[in-house]
Amino acid sequence: MAPLLNFLLASLLGSTIAACSLDAHIKKAGKEYFGVATDPNTLNIPEIASIVDQEFGSVTPENSMKWDSTEPSQNNFNFAKSDILVSFAQSHNKTIRGHTLIWHSQLPNWVTTITSPTVLRAVLTTHITTLVTRYKGLIHHWDVVNEVFNEDGSLRDSVFLRVLGEEYIPLSFRIAHAADPDARLYINDYNLDFSGPKLEGMVALVNRLVQQGVPVHGIGTQAHLVVGNGAIPYFRGTLERLVSTGLEVAVTELDVRMAVPVTEERLRRQREDYALVVKACREVQRCVGVTVWGVSDKHSWVPNTFPGQGAALLWDEEYKKKLAYEGVESALA
Ligand code: G3I
Repeated sequence: MAPLLNFLLASLLGSTIAACSLDAHIKKAGKEYFGVATDPNTLNIPEIASIVDQEFGSVTPENSMKWDSTEPSQNNFNFAKSDILVSFAQSHNKTIRGHTLIWHSQLPNWVTTITSPTVLRAVLTTHITTLVTRYKGLIHHWDVVNEVFNEDGSLRDSVFLRVLGEEYIPLSFRIAHAADPDARLYINDYNLDFSGPKLEGMVALVNRLVQQGVPVHGIGTQAHLVVGNGAIPYFRGTLERLVSTGLEVAVTELDVRMAVPVTEERLRRQREDYALVVKACREVQRCVGVTVWGVSDKHSWVPNTFPGQGAALLWDEEYKKKLAYEGVESALA
């Protein structure tokens, strides 16, 4: 009961974006939104709900729209968590980036064991159509395919590639487009932050899709970065390479992790790194918005995946703004 009460209380907090919010700043700079990843498990925390409400104009479901949450067994759809996120967004005037329809990870076993192209095509069609139709008109961007590349720019092994070949990618976009022709459809990946084969693989695939008339509208660059990583100064160049395809681009999962425990020096460098990334989006006309991958360091995915690293977000574990927040503000001033 307590989490539900917390959630309701948090939902009752003001729903007007403060004039000095990150979202207001980025809109003044001509962009569409400053967004954040969240879900019912973090929105349940009043401090988080309040920050999401006051600072951000867009939300991305961190986990609740993934295949293992929404269709854990065949045709058995569960929208309990994603509906909470969507209803929060509606009542607090946020747009939504849907994440994600087709991904090799967080994919239930009943999908990964399919070997028949006919069966997989039907399963993929049902999954995409059901999700996109449920939230038709409510989701402004969908990450249709996520992380389809290896680091060398070739397509990543997955049940989709093994059984259907590259064709699963245009197929997924066409199905999503048929279900909601107004949603902007994205291909999303990480490690596109420096020049190299993965970035070029993305550009080449998108060019092929565009030539084939596939309804793909944007490229998401996740931007899971590391403090002091040499790639960050080149971030603007990689955005420009991505928009050379003619598509728009969005920074979709920004965080900048560091070795822990944190030091003042690392926090200062993190402020500069955040500033560089956000400034790059600001300066590249077809970069439409920035999403950070969570509110507080307390709930970030980073320490679980990279032991010894953390502190990647804009608010610390006590929900206090970090220097990184100032870095973002300065880039948008
Ligand atoms: O839902 C179960 C819960 O029932 C169980 O009690 C708990 C115990 O550990 O685990 C819960 O599942 C976790 C899930 O997050 C929901 O909290 C998984 O273990 C955990 O692995 C999962 O991590 C997510 C990760 O994707 C999975 O790959 C992170 O929260 C999420 O931030 C992360 O997000 C991805 C993007 O979708 C794609 N790009 C990379 C990014 C970071 O990995």
